[in-house]
Amino acid sequence: MDRFHFPAWVNTLVSLLGPIVTLGLIYVIAVLWYGAVPATTDVGYAPKQPVPYSHKLHAGDLKIDCRYCHTTVDKAAFAAIPPTQTCMNCHSPKDAAGQVLTTAVHSDSKKLAPVRESYASGKPVEWQKVHDLPDYVYFDHSAHVTRGVSCVECHGRVDRMEVVFQAKELSMSWCLNCHRNPEARVRPPELVTKLDWTPPKGKTAEDVGREIIEQRGIKPPTNCSTCHR
Ligand code: HEC
Ligand code: HEC
Ligand code: HEC
Ligand code: HEC
Ligand code: HEC
Repeated sequence: MDRFHFPAWVNTLVSLLGPIVTLGLIYVIAVLWYGAVPATTDVGYAPKQPVPYSHKLHAGDLKIDCRYCHTTVDKAAFAAIPPTQTCMNCHSPKDAAGQVLTTAVHSDSKKLAPVRESYASGKPVEWQKVHDLPDYVYFDHSAHVTRGVSCVECHGRVDRMEVVFQAKELSMSWCLNCHRNPEARVRPPELVTKLDWTPPKGKTAEDVGREIIEQRGIKPPTNCSTCHR
C-alpha cells in the first residue's frame, strides 16, 4: 500500500480544488454573460474628427466607391484610411505640375484647412478611430468582402452618415451569429460596396446568399482559433 501514500500537501491541494473549480466556472459564466450583453459595446460611438468629412456627401450623393479611398479593404485584413493625396485629387487648387485645376473643389474652404496643412507638412491628418476590436481578436476585411459580405452588414448605411458612428455591436455573439447563419447576408461580391442593394425581383436575400454559398463552398468557421490566434 506504500505506493498510495501521498505527502500531506496533497490533502491541502485536494481541499483547494473545489473552490478553484467553482471560481473557474464563475469565470466562464461571467465571460459568456459579459460577452453576450450588448450594453458592453460601443454602438453609436462617433469621435470628433479633425475635418468635417461627410460620407453622406462623398459616398452617398457623389457616389464615390468605398474602394477609391479604402483601397486595401478587399486585399488585406486592415481597411486603409486614405492619405491626404486622395483628398487633394479633388480639393487641390493646383496639380503636380503647378497647373490650376478646373476641377478644384472648395480649394479655399476653411473646413479643408487641416487637409491643406497636412499636404504641405507631409504629416497625416489625425483621423480618430471609430471601430476598435480588442487586440486579442483577429479580424480580416478581405476574407469577408471577397466572399460577398457587404460593408453594410457590419457598418450600417455609411453612405447616409454625415459623421461615421459604430452601427453594430461587434461583440463575439454578434460575429458568431452571422458565422452560424450567413445565408441572408452574403451577396455577389461585386456588389459589396453598393450599400442600397436589394435582391432581384422574385428572390429573397436568403435565396441569393444560399446560391453563392453553395457555388463557392463558403463556410464561416466557428472554432475559437479563427478569431483568437
Ligand atoms: C473620399 C474618400 C472616402 C470614401 C469614398 C469613403 N470613405 Fe470611409 N472614410 C474616409 C475617411 C477620410 C475616414 C476617416 C474619417 C472618418 O471616420 O470619417 C473614413 C472612415 C470610415 C469608417 C470608420 C473607420 C474607423 O475609424 O473605424 C468606415 C467604417 C468607413 N469609412 C466606411 C466607408 C464605406 C462603407 C464607404 C463606401 C460606402 C466609404 N467609407 C467611402 C474616406 C472615405
Ligand atoms: C472625387 C472628388 C473628391 C474627393 C476624392 C474628395 N472630395 Fe471632398 N468634396 C468633393 C466635392 C465635389 C465637394 C463639394 C460638394 C458641393 O459643395 O456640392 C466636396 C466637399 C468637401 C467638403 C466640404 C467643403 C465645404 O467648404 O463645404 C469637405 C470638408 C471635404 N469635401 C473633405 C474631403 C476630404 C477630407 C477628402 C479626402 C478624404 C475628400 N473631401 C475627397 C469631391 C471630392
Ligand atoms: C464582417 C464585418 C465587416 C465588413 C463586411 C466590413 N467591415 Fe470594416 N470593420 C469591421 C470591424 C470589426 C472593424 C474594426 C477592426 C479592428 O478594430 O481591428 C472594421 C474597421 C474598418 C475600418 C477602420 C480601419 C480598420 O481596418 O480597422 C474601415 C475604414 C472599414 N472598416 C471600412 C470598411 C469598408 C469600406 C467595408 C466594405 C467594403 C467594410 N469595412 C466591411 C467589420 C467589417
Ligand atoms: C454578416 C456576416 C459576418 C459577420 C458579422 C462576421 N463574419 Fe467573419 N466571415 C463571414 C463569412 C461569410 C466568411 C467567409 C467564410 C468562407 O470563406 O468560407 C467569414 C470569415 C471570417 C474569417 C476568416 C476565416 C478563415 O479562416 O478564412 C475570420 C477571421 C472572421 N470571419 C472573423 C470575424 C470576426 C472577428 C467577426 C466579428 C468582429 C466576424 N467575422 C463577423 C461572415 C461574417
Ligand atoms: C467569429 C469570431 C469569434 C470566434 C469564432 C470566437 N470569438 Fe471570442 N471574441 C470575439 C470577439 C469579437 C470578442 C470581443 C468582444 C467584445 O469586445 O465585446 C471576443 C471575446 C472573447 C473573450 C473575452 C470576453 C470578454 O467579454 O471580455 C473570450 C474569453 C473569448 N472571446 C473566448 C472565445 C472562445 C473560448 C471561443 C471558442 C469557443 C471563441 N471566443 C470564439 C470573436 C470570436
